[in-house]
Amino acid sequence: RAVAERIALDAADLVRRRRREVFSGNLAQDGAVSSKSTPTDPVTIVDSESEELIRQRLAELRPSDRILGEEGGGDSETSGIRWVVDPIDGTVNFMYGIGAYAVSIAAQRDGVSVAGAVVDVPTGVLYSAALGAGAYMRDSEGEVTTLRCSAETAMSHALVATGFGYGAARREHQGQLVASLLPRIRDIRRIGAASLDLCLLAAGRVDAYFEHGLHPWDWAAAALIASEAGASVTVPSPTSSGDDGDITYAAAPGVAQEFADALDKLGALRQL
Ligand code: IPD
Repeated sequence: RAVAERIALDAADLVRRRRREVFSGNLAQDGAVSSKSTPTDPVTIVDSESEELIRQRLAELRPSDRILGEEGGGDSETSGIRWVVDPIDGTVNFMYGIGAYAVSIAAQRDGVSVAGAVVDVPTGVLYSAALGAGAYMRDSEGEVTTLRCSAETAMSHALVATGFGYGAARREHQGQLVASLLPRIRDIRRIGAASLDLCLLAAGRVDAYFEHGLHPWDWAAAALIASEAGASVTVPSPTSSGDDGDITYAAAPGVAQEFADALDKLGALRQL
């Protein structure tokens, strides 16, 4: 956990500094932004720089481990530990200067997250957890709070976070699902960074979350943080790549059953 925290905080410093250097408003320096899977799926030079820093630091501190990163793919390991890295989660927010983007680093053993750290870059808030050891949040002044998810018991009062992928067909289904869910809940939030959606669930600031098609780096750290904060969490299988459209869903314990039943009724517990 200490390694994940230290490196995530360093990468967050780099991302914060480089945003000021590379962007003015949402205008980027020439060549700083390109597209990945679809024209709406962006990557910036700062995503690559952040991942490079994280890879270098992990190579120094944990040379025998494997790393799976959003921008760089995977490599081989001998220790049984795989680090799953999102150098900037919420790249669209990062580009537009909207204050919700994060660095996310998890350590997994056999596909199960055992430690994770997420740093909300603009605020400097660190969310952290280790398997079986609880989750906490540390603000930029160093104040530490144990994370507990909300005590909400009625889905009709639940604030539900969700997100959308970058492919047009999946987005159409995701929009239909939101339209069906909206009349049954308090409201929807589309924050723009899956890791922060799950950390906000851990902090009791939303009551539930769901999204289809997440990649391992989107959820690996934050799903552990939410689950250590008491949430009921379902993640894709360790072999899922994200492209197959598995659902990730999580909720505070008092609404978890009702939420899962509602998703099931809407046909959402399948791949999209
Ligand atoms: C994206 C964000 C977004 C979620 C997408 C992710 P990225 O990650 O987490 O909230 O809805 O599914 O791909 O591309 O900004 O690292």
